[in-house]
Parts: sequence; C-alpha cells; structure tokens
Amino acid sequence: MENAEAEVVSHYADHDGVSLFDRIYAALAAQGVAAADVTAEHLKGVDEFHIGGVDATLALLDQLAIAPATRVLDIGSGIGGPARLIASRYGAQVTGVDLTPDFVETARRLSAAVGSPTEFIVGSAFDLPFADATFDLATLLHVGMNLPDKPRLFAEAARVLRPGGTFAVYDVMLFGNHPDFPVPWSSGPESSFLSGPYTYLDAAAEAGFTLRARRDRGDVVRAFFVAMQERMAKAGPPAIGLPLIMGPTAPVKAANMIKAVTAGDIAPVEMIFDRR
Ligand SMILES: C[S@@+](CC[C@H](N)C(=O)[O-])C[C@H]1O[C@@H](n2cnc3c(N)ncnc32)[C@H](O)[C@@H]1O
Repeated sequence: MENAEAEVVSHYADHDGVSLFDRIYAALAAQGVAAADVTAEHLKGVDEFHIGGVDATLALLDQLAIAPATRVLDIGSGIGGPARLIASRYGAQVTGVDLTPDFVETARRLSAAVGSPTEFIVGSAFDLPFADATFDLATLLHVGMNLPDKPRLFAEAARVLRPGGTFAVYDVMLFGNHPDFPVPWSSGPESSFLSGPYTYLDAAAEAGFTLRARRDRGDVVRAFFVAMQERMAKAGPPAIGLPLIMGPTAPVKAANMIKAVTAGDIAPVEMIFDRR
C-alpha cells in the first residue's frame, strides 16, 4: 500500500521545480489577469481535475441536498476546485483531504487567494485523519483509480460519515481493457487501480452503504471530448487548462485516456450512496 501511495505522489508531484500555484498565476498573468483580480471562476479550467470539468461536478452535486450546515469532506481533493465550488454554491463547510502535499499546498494558496473558506489537509483515503461521524457528506471525484483497496476506501468513508450521511462518487471505472500508459492519473500500471462497477458496489454494501443512484457517463463524456477536440482544432489548447497540472506529457496522457473512453474500455460513473 505504501509503495502504491509513493508512486501516486511521485506521479502527481511537481514537474519542473516551479510551484504549481506559480505556474497557474504565471499563465493567468500571460492572459492579462493580474494576481489581485483572480477569482475562483478564472481557475475552473485547471482546478477541476476530472473528465467533464465543472459541468461534471455540478451534474453530481445538484443531485445532493447540500445546505450551509452540511459538513462536507472531499476525499482526494486535488488543488481544491470541487471543494471551493461546493463552498461557494451551497455555503457549506468543506474540508479537502489529499495524499499529494504539492496539491494540498496549492489548494490552500488558491483558496486563500480567492477568499474561499475551505480547508485542506494532507492525508490518505485509507486512513482519514478525522474522528468517527464527523461529516454529513463525502465526495470522491476521480480518485478511486489510484486506490488499490476499495473495501478500505468505503470502510473509511463510512467511518467518518454520520449514520444517514451521503457518499457521492464520480470515478473512472473499468469496462474492458486497461488503457495504454501514461494516463492523467498514472504514469504506469503500478499506480493505476481501475476497477469495474461491481467492485465499488460490493465494497460499498460491505461497508454499510445503500446505493441511492447510479449514472454511467460514458456517452456524456464522449460527446464532451468531441466538443473539446473541435474547440481545440479551431482555437488551440486553452491557456488555463489541465496541462498546467499534468506537465509536459499532458498530450499523451489525455490521448491515451480519450482512446480508452472512446473504445468503451473505461468510463466515468456516478454512484451516490446512503450510509445506513
Ligand atoms: C485525478 S486527481 C482528482 C482531484 C480532484 N478530486 C478533482 O476532481 O479535481 C486524483 C487525486 O487523488 C489524490 N489521491 C490519490 N490517492 C490518494 C489517497 N490514497 N488518498 C488521498 N488522496 C489520494 C491525488 O493526490 C490527486 O489529487
């Protein structure tokens, strides 16, 4: 498990010695956005590190009843886009936890810079640094592909949720062959742990969750990729985009993922569970 976690951190870690925060701010400055003028909206091209971007996050969130009093944990929070979106859209209290220290540092600095009342903590999904029953809602967006032990993920999520709490998952799942590597979440097979939907459903049931809703998003994201490729053919890649996070190998990572999604070998799936 520790080896897998070390592989994950090294995959996501800084690419060129310049902090990710500084790379994002330099890219914004090159677009004429002064540091003092940066808003959460400017970050949306880069801080939603999953297929479908902000629209996919909203498609998941808007199925949930989130209110200002909702205590939310975003597991594998990346550089904090989904957490900031939940805090601003619903006024909820959001904590993010992530294994990659660079991402947690970047998430904190971005939230401070745009005035988002979110907090971020370094920690593992397999050993969440929170007391039992701390949260009403946990979210997991494109993280399970890095997690070799789904039963342990679901057991930890169940532990930190109160009875009756909700666990909302939006993960890339396996429906056929594994993709070629690298992909956005992994440089090679040693840190990619794609699983089929039944692995998730079994682990969830075992941990005391009941499935409330499931949507397979393959068709939606295939249309998303076609539209994205048409936009890029006309206007080139966006200046503020995921290549800032994925580094120099971003084009091949994206191409391998799109190929596998197009072939139907992998696809994102939403699953919403209630903790019994
Ligand atoms: C593809 S990114 C998604 C980030 C974020 N959820 C989003 O949608 O913008 C996957 C994230 O999972 C984190 N991660 C991977 N394994 C983890 C673990 N065992 N515990 C916590 N976070 C983990 C990575 O550090 C990375 O930030």
